[in-house]
Amino acid sequence: MNEAYAAAISNGKGVKQEIDMTPSPQYDNWQDLETLCCVERRQETDNAVTLVLKPTKSLAVSYLPGQFLVLNVPINGQSHSRAYSLCSAPQIDHELAVTVKRVDGGLVSNWLLDHFHVGDELAALPPAGAFVLPTDYSAKNILLCSAGSGITPMMSMARWLIAHQPDVNIHFMHSARHADDLIFKDALLAMTAQHAQFHFYPIFRNLTDAFTCYQGRINPALFDQLITDLTDTQVFMCGPEDYMETIEGFLRDRQFPMEFSHKESFTPSALTMSTPADTQTSFAISVPQFGADTEIAAHQTILDALESMQLPIIAACRSGICGSCKCKVTKGQAENISDMPGPLTEEEQQEGFILACSSRANSDLELEI
Ligand SMILES: Cc1cc2nc3c(=O)[nH]c(=O)nc-3n(C[C@H](O)[C@H](O)[C@H](O)COP(=O)(O)OP(=O)(O)OC[C@H]3O[C@@H](n4cnc5c(N)ncnc54)[C@H](O)[C@@H]3O)c2cc1C
Ligand code: FES
Repeated sequence: MNEAYAAAISNGKGVKQEIDMTPSPQYDNWQDLETLCCVERRQETDNAVTLVLKPTKSLAVSYLPGQFLVLNVPINGQSHSRAYSLCSAPQIDHELAVTVKRVDGGLVSNWLLDHFHVGDELAALPPAGAFVLPTDYSAKNILLCSAGSGITPMMSMARWLIAHQPDVNIHFMHSARHADDLIFKDALLAMTAQHAQFHFYPIFRNLTDAFTCYQGRINPALFDQLITDLTDTQVFMCGPEDYMETIEGFLRDRQFPMEFSHKESFTPSALTMSTPADTQTSFAISVPQFGADTEIAAHQTILDALESMQLPIIAACRSGICGSCKCKVTKGQAENISDMPGPLTEEEQQEGFILACSSRANSDLELEI
């Protein structure tokens, strides 16, 4: 494995790629919201557009294949944040790119597709996310399984692996409704034609004769037909929850060691709030840096309370995935109510950091945001 990459993953910092190529630049670190300008829009399908984004100032940009950006967009005078995986690949692409798929009735995806054009700007948090090639990556095979817009982080991983790991066999299984819904179609067909290590298996519910594909939904027989050997393999899954549960079921049935499987959900999940053991129905919550305080009911999330005080907290996924709502408990006790591992490191948790969207108060609280 590329040494710079291995070191970057193990120190959690990502691969440094300097976006601005001007001579002797002064690069700023990207720590908080920074402005990105749209320099290109690529229509991938009727419902998906790739937005190529360039920082408006000289910025040191580090990321790993699989990570995402939290975009902050102003709609009707209000700021809304959503996470979008980078489909660009570090050390290969000079610009950052995300691909947004339209969600029926969705606020931000529709706005980006309909109102965000070349020359327009938005703010974004630095790349983040733990859905990346693992620190001890040494497998001979990688299996990428995606459905719908879940293809975006896979594209970054596949392109990075082709460029840097020529000995790794990449098996990429992707499900979509129809060939016309296949995001990155031309690039994927070109990668298949040019790189013997890359095996792409498009699975469409509606058959097309445009290129080699499989019809129907992924099922055990088709899985076995496409993936004949799971030894020395790392598996990455991204798509709707039921799709990923299906793939996980296939892996378990084949005695696959699940510690070598990794998944990311794009869809906010409803966090299940169990009834608090304590009978006290509310606690005091204060944020001294803004001189703000309020009451928080035992069943509310800390994010609910911070938003009710109209504090500038960013919450892109509202389900404990993206880390954008990270804040610090300086006094009192908070409880994590998410059943997912989440993006906070062990060290951050020990320092008192929590995710506001997936925590509730267990006592009166003082916070820093
Ligand atoms: C880590 C991460 C990475 C992501 N990467 C991408 C990406 O690369 N490309 C991309 O297009 N999206 C991606 N998403 C999803 C994206 O963040 C938004 O959730 C999505 O664009 C919908 O936002 P919206 O404002 O349009 O919909 P909202 O107004 O938030 O929601 C409208 C309705 O749609 C439902 N909904 C929300 N998200 C989805 C979804 N993804 N699929 C189906 N229904 C949904 C909601 O439950 C709600 O009922 C990612 C999400 C996460 C957490
Ligand atoms: S909003 Fe994404 S982790 Fe809280």
